[in-house]
Amino acid sequence: MIDGKAFAARVRAQVAEHVARLREEQGITPGLAVVLVGEDPASTVYVRNKGKQTVEVGMNSYEHKLPAETSEAGLLGLIAQLNADPAVHGILVQLPLPGHLNSDLVINAIDPAKDVDGFHISNVGLLGTGQKAMVPCTPLGCLMMLRDHLGSLSGLDAVVVGRSNIVGKPMAQLLLGDSCTVTIAHSRTQDLGEVCRRADILVAAVGRPEMIPGAWVKPGATVIDVGINRIERDGKTKLVGDVDFASASQVAGAITPVPGGVGPMTIACLLANTLTACCRANG
Ligand code: GUN
Repeated sequence: MIDGKAFAARVRAQVAEHVARLREEQGITPGLAVVLVGEDPASTVYVRNKGKQTVEVGMNSYEHKLPAETSEAGLLGLIAQLNADPAVHGILVQLPLPGHLNSDLVINAIDPAKDVDGFHISNVGLLGTGQKAMVPCTPLGCLMMLRDHLGSLSGLDAVVVGRSNIVGKPMAQLLLGDSCTVTIAHSRTQDLGEVCRRADILVAAVGRPEMIPGAWVKPGATVIDVGINRIERDGKTKLVGDVDFASASQVAGAITPVPGGVGPMTIACLLANTLTACCRANG
């Protein structure tokens, strides 16, 4: 079992130590601005957790909660203001945005140097060409756990199930950067089971509860489950991943649980990215 919760606590402790040193030596406190448009319940919980953990590592948290009917011009105005604010080193616009707002346009309005989500087209391009980029938090957290568990990833067969811009595609880029042989599989992939069984590293990021059974896992493989799905079972609400943990954990060499695997690492990496943005802004 790969304990993402414990790993995330170690990352946060390292960030907190660095933040304290920045304050003592240079009088600088990193600041993270989080923008939430509307009141999607899951997003509201995420944003609250981000704010809480930002403050816990000693950074400044600036929360901007806007009504669901906020206009594009209004949101772009706030982003321009945050781009210009020297106390703000990282900007995160919580997704999904309400339907009348164009997320690509909004994300690309963020100063790429403050884009701690790594979603700006310029950071996507930098990552894809192996240059210094802001790297999306969830795939970065997955990579850190893989390196920690396996050491070198060079030459390993990696299969990423899911092709989203937030997880699947950047995950594939990072694994390629670590010299894996990378396959991106998705809902249209033929014989998905056979493709998955080739994987030394299997990353599941499709958002479908328990769709990957143990029979699709190569014995000894390292399985990273990015899915967080809410299901009803035995009259109770339960969080499960994209992997069927009960059967997959019998076969895998190591596996991340849900909850307590990838989830906590995502926010820890967000804090690490904010620190990185602050350090780059201050030379
Ligand atoms: N919504 C779900 N995951 C994410 C994320 O990593 N960043 C942002 N901004 N919104 C999200």
